Amino acid sequence: MKVMVVGGGGREHAIIKKIKENKAVTEIFALPGNGGMANDATCVNIDAKDIHKIADFAVKNNIDYAVVAPDDPLVLGAVDLLEENGIACFGPRANAAIIEGSKVFSKNLMKKYGIPTAAYEVFDDMKAALNYIKTAPIPAVIKADGLALGKGVIIAQTRKEAEDAIRSMMQDKVFGKSGDNIVIEEFLTGPEVSVLSFTDGKTVVPMISSMDHKRAGDNDTGLNTGGMGTIAPNPYYTPEIAKECMEKIFLPTINAMNNEGRTFKGCLYFGLMLTKSGPKVIEYNCRFGDPETQVVLPLLETDLLSVMQAVTEGKLSEIEVIFSDKSACCVIMASEGYPVKYEKGFELNIPEKIADKVYVAGAAIKDDTLVTNGGRVLGATAVSDDLKTAINNAYLIVNQITFTNSYYRNDIGAKALKAEEGR
Ligand code: AMP
Ligand code: GLY
Repeated sequence: MKVMVVGGGGREHAIIKKIKENKAVTEIFALPGNGGMANDATCVNIDAKDIHKIADFAVKNNIDYAVVAPDDPLVLGAVDLLEENGIACFGPRANAAIIEGSKVFSKNLMKKYGIPTAAYEVFDDMKAALNYIKTAPIPAVIKADGLALGKGVIIAQTRKEAEDAIRSMMQDKVFGKSGDNIVIEEFLTGPEVSVLSFTDGKTVVPMISSMDHKRAGDNDTGLNTGGMGTIAPNPYYTPEIAKECMEKIFLPTINAMNNEGRTFKGCLYFGLMLTKSGPKVIEYNCRFGDPETQVVLPLLETDLLSVMQAVTEGKLSEIEVIFSDKSACCVIMASEGYPVKYEKGFELNIPEKIADKVYVAGAAIKDDTLVTNGGRVLGATAVSDDLKTAINNAYLIVNQITFTNSYYRNDIGAKALKAEEGR
């Protein structure tokens, strides 16, 4: 069986390694993949956003199954196009991927169907937004409507910061058309939980919960990044909270999308905040999270490809999805300066004996040598019986990997460990 995975980061490497476990798989192509995953997949130099080239490749190479992992191609309609060409796919169609592609859409969906989320206002006019912010509660959260590489959210601590954010999005267009419309929402507080789920539009199966570490620096300081590390399971996410989320958030969301004629099939990611007045949705993603996937999939005991195929065929209720009761920790090694400015092209040394625990995000092969080629370079994941050991072991892996200008947080999992000990 020939499988194609669209995307090229650590998330895709984790998906590829898991799919490889299925004996029926003879070949995996990564579009574009990256030099660090060359042992696990055949990398094909096609950009993940070039959905027409992707579909042509799939047809010409008789691909049996395609996984579209990143947000951009999903929102652009990669799955629609592949399906039109007869290729079985994992991932939502464009009309469902809008749940991530437009924050205005997702906020209005939640309001219409009574799904708990932060109170908000939508603006398409800068003057109106600036006028509103004069009296709005501060801190305020300003969000660009469309995709913005995870950077379209600004938490304004002062009215001045809020005004600057509005101007930068709506006037200076720092996120391009994504800032034509903005959402201004209430600032919530509480522990954050990421819950990825499999859904075929009828059944929703939450995966093991996880915790991301979005800020660049230790103790949650510095700029927001794509994610500097993850742990799973998330100790704040108790069975009682999981039950409440299923009743008030997960099932209502699946039903709401069906009701709107936008059935969601694929991985639906719930970014949740556990507030004093209950769990609320911070964001939906129409895909696997990165780096959440690097701790969630290593804990999946059921064959991933079989679960994905069950989603595609609308038979998710017929398969049992089992997660291990172990813990996992993933530490991201980045290039110093990420997420702003960083150098790349440095030799990357990953000893062979730990290669199976490393998911490469930003690397390239140059003159037969593996070199760094991105902000987030790789994720080092350890799975252990308990969280503390998983954290220690993840850092032991990190210590064996070398490249110039490497940077990583030293406190991945520390907050979770404290929460666990406090229980
Ligand atoms: P997002 O890109 O939507 O995941 O937002 C990035 C981060 O901003 C989230 O992980 C939260 O930490 C924070 N955030 C987003 N919306 C809110 C909110 N309404 N209240 C507090 N923090 C928020
Ligand atoms: N780690 C958050 C995301 O994938 O959007």
